[in-house]
Amino acid sequence: MNDSTPSIATPFTTHAGVEVPLICGPMYPCSNPELVSAVSESGALGVVQPVSLTFVHGYDFREGLRLIRSQTSKPIAMNALIEKSSQKYHQRMQAWVDIALEEGVRFFITSLGNPRWVVDVVTPHGGIVYHDATERKWALKALDNGVHGLIGVNNRAGGHAGAKSAEQLMDELGYLNVPLVCAGGIGDEQQYVQAMQLGYAGCQLGTRFIATHECNSALPYKQAIINADESDIVLSERITGVPVSLINTPQVARKGLKVGAFARWMLGGNRSKHWMRLFYTLRSAFALRSASLDESGKEDFWQAGKSVGGIHAIEPVDDIVKRFKIAWLQVKRGTGENDG
Ligand SMILES: Cc1cc2nc3c(=O)[nH]c(=O)nc-3n(C[C@H](O)[C@H](O)[C@H](O)COP(=O)(O)O)c2cc1C
Repeated sequence: MNDSTPSIATPFTTHAGVEVPLICGPMYPCSNPELVSAVSESGALGVVQPVSLTFVHGYDFREGLRLIRSQTSKPIAMNALIEKSSQKYHQRMQAWVDIALEEGVRFFITSLGNPRWVVDVVTPHGGIVYHDATERKWALKALDNGVHGLIGVNNRAGGHAGAKSAEQLMDELGYLNVPLVCAGGIGDEQQYVQAMQLGYAGCQLGTRFIATHECNSALPYKQAIINADESDIVLSERITGVPVSLINTPQVARKGLKVGAFARWMLGGNRSKHWMRLFYTLRSAFALRSASLDESGKEDFWQAGKSVGGIHAIEPVDDIVKRFKIAWLQVKRGTGENDG
């Protein structure tokens, strides 16, 4: 790199050992091995979602990681979903984290619980943990428990959406002295540049990477993403008990977006809410898996975020990452920033 080349390195790229400040976030059920490896190979960070790798795509966890490793030697990450909804699930997640460490994974993204045990297990091996946070309260708790960075999940995100905008989250979390990644609502390179200009150390995208050649979700799902605009995205409590972003298809409209009175009561209880969420998660896990692989398009039950508005084609992963990187480099060049 010469003196006139701007740097797009950030504290996040240093932590992850990647070139481009961009993550393809973990996605149940869409994170197939080829998608993860293509993202990492392109210079961004691909994230393994362990339930997706094993339950949806049918790999033994270690074999799946080795397959990805055979497709790229660049860093990959793992999503540790840490809600202790059942002891068995927790033990399985612990075993997956151990295997990931053995297979060379050093970047972990935690969501939905206390990240302390992941920090304790991976830090002695040089591991880095970033935690998904939707508001300051949870971010501070995660930092107290030793995480190295935060992913601010905003109100435009696919998956579990937050309640605050990217700007609000930057105001609330940006001063906490750890790298902050923006998750939610980024479908094209202009939106990426806008988020980076707010001061984020990187961006985590989900929906954009479903509409790629390497994602093996069914074609009708990808086409629904391309055809949808922001107003087609609705929040449903019927997936996990907390709001999840979905495309408003006939099936979703038929089922409704709210949970019933009994479920609401269960979700309100401190102990019962874990059982109720587990029930919803298991029920939805089958439906989401089946819909994501259904080439007939009849099972129109598809997660996506408001970033659909910026997604107009099914593309190779490498084209997307290159385009985003060039757009950000051009802006940095325009502002006269360089390495020298
Ligand atoms: C289909 C889908 C499944 C997701 N599954 C997970 C998941 O299992 N774990 C997780 O931490 N985030 C999950 N997310 C969130 C993404 O990792 C990412 O933060 C989010 O998609 C960013 O918003 P965007 O879709 O607007 O780009 C999911 C998102 C989508 C669209």
